[in-house]
Amino acid sequence: MVRLLTLLLPLGLASAGQMLTTRDQSVGTSRNLIVGAPGQILSYSFDGKVFANHANVTEAGTSASWMIFKYPNLLYAVDENSNSTRVFNFNPVDSTLSAEPVSAANGSSGVVSLAFDKNQTHLVGASYSQGQVDVWDISPTDGSLKLLKQVPLPGPTGPAAAQAVHRAHQAVLDPTGQFFAIADLGGDAIHFLDTSSWEITSSAVVKPAGAGPRHGAFIGGEDMCLPKYYVVACELKSLIILYELSQTDDGKMELKNPQTLSTYGDAFPPANATSAAAGELIASHNERDIYVSNRLTGNATDSISHFVVKDGKLQFADQISSGGSIPRQLSFSTEESFVFGTNQGGDSGLVAFQRNMGDGTLSALAALSNSEISAQGTNLGPQFVQEIPMYTHQIPAQWVDGVPQWGNVQG
Ligand SMILES: *[C@@H]1O[C@H](CO)[C@@H](O)[C@H](O)[C@H]1NC(C)=O
Ligand SMILES: *[C@@H]1O[C@H](CO)[C@@H](O)[C@H](O)[C@H]1NC(C)=O
Ligand SMILES: *[C@@H]1O[C@H](CO)[C@@H](O)[C@H](O)[C@H]1NC(C)=O
Ligand SMILES: *[C@@H]1O[C@H](CO)[C@@H](O)[C@H](O)[C@H]1NC(C)=O
Ligand SMILES: *[C@@H]1O[C@H](CO)[C@@H](O)[C@H](O)[C@H]1NC(C)=O
Ligand SMILES: *[C@@H]1O[C@H](CO)[C@@H](O)[C@H](O)[C@H]1NC(C)=O
Repeated sequence: MVRLLTLLLPLGLASAGQMLTTRDQSVGTSRNLIVGAPGQILSYSFDGKVFANHANVTEAGTSASWMIFKYPNLLYAVDENSNSTRVFNFNPVDSTLSAEPVSAANGSSGVVSLAFDKNQTHLVGASYSQGQVDVWDISPTDGSLKLLKQVPLPGPTGPAAAQAVHRAHQAVLDPTGQFFAIADLGGDAIHFLDTSSWEITSSAVVKPAGAGPRHGAFIGGEDMCLPKYYVVACELKSLIILYELSQTDDGKMELKNPQTLSTYGDAFPPANATSAAAGELIASHNERDIYVSNRLTGNATDSISHFVVKDGKLQFADQISSGGSIPRQLSFSTEESFVFGTNQGGDSGLVAFQRNMGDGTLSALAALSNSEISAQGTNLGPQFVQEIPMYTHQIPAQWVDGVPQWGNVQG
């Protein structure tokens, strides 16, 4: 049963110039958020204080635990409970969502994250259940999907119970657009998928055995320049590992000189180290700040740890409560002045933190109760949140020393 509930955003269409000025100052602008929760895809506006629901597509049994948006109107959503990737129409200007998918197709089962290639003609899905990645041709503008290739992850699997099979957890594109780094939670490895052949051309082993790499990010890099580092959060042993990235003469990617820390600072060990499981990792464009979510800590609430890379050294900086439990995912606002998060359990489901642009510390800003997100039972709160700016010119054209640079508005 699919149902649509739409309220129009109370936003007048300000001129492009005004929009740009407001976003540039980055305070007080209303933002669109897309939220995935079990059985629901929701959109909210957020004015810095209050989350207001605008659209709601409900389909029992589905789980849109990852979504990605392609301008002007295509929202791609996984269903981690089936083989299906669905495409909805989403209009970021008025925050409306189509009641039914405009297209859907079956690939691997249990896909838990999606990423575009650089020109957004291909979509890569990471399958946790089948330990492979799906490569979709998404070049048609009508939103149709064509399964181009399924790439199984190579190599041995790890020693932990969750590692009986390979598990592709996330594919992230490097800033040059040359390859995706695929975190293999089952195989204790990072695999590099080349976008010119759609083949895995190199793999790096993650140690210690049983670490379970889950989500990672590149640090640095731009169009013509490889990133300096790749950093990954390992779920099973709650570790964060920073690697130097390099490329051999024959084009293979290498991860070197690992620096490994607990995802908890020395002062904040989890109450239950057995259940503790790192979740999300996001890295700022300032090439310094990294945030990792700590789930199932056994403490009253779970947490988000802040790390910094300083003179090439990975260091724990500080930690803050996630406001609830099982903070599965985190994302930056467009200009990185907020961090949004989702707690699958506890009272606060959808949370926003103010990010101090100077030292990178987070402070709690706003929260929406899981009861208001219609969490249908214990730990069935939201799994995913992402800001979708109304217009492409509200996405920084580039970053200089961690400061967003805004493009010129055409017309
Ligand atoms: C995907 O597979 C399921 C189960 O076999 C089927 O019911 C569904 O129609 C398929 N979806 C598409 C879009 O082909
Ligand atoms: C759908 O998922 C099942 C495993 O649940 C798998 O055997 C099958 O090959 C998948 N279908 C496609 C098109 O990949
Ligand atoms: C887009 O990028 C892919 C590689 O990611 C490449 O195969 C394709 O040719 C490119 N298409 C265009 C139109 O540039
Ligand atoms: C979590 O519990 C452990 C053990 O009681 C404690 O040492 C730690 O400081 C707690 N963490 C937080 C953030 O309160
Ligand atoms: C710690 O977590 C493990 C694994 O989930 C669980 O079996 C155990 O009961 C927990 N311990 C406490 C004290 O809650
Ligand atoms: C979304 O719609 C479903 C079905 O009508 C409803 O049960 C749920 O409360 C709605 N969620 C929100 C956040 O409004």
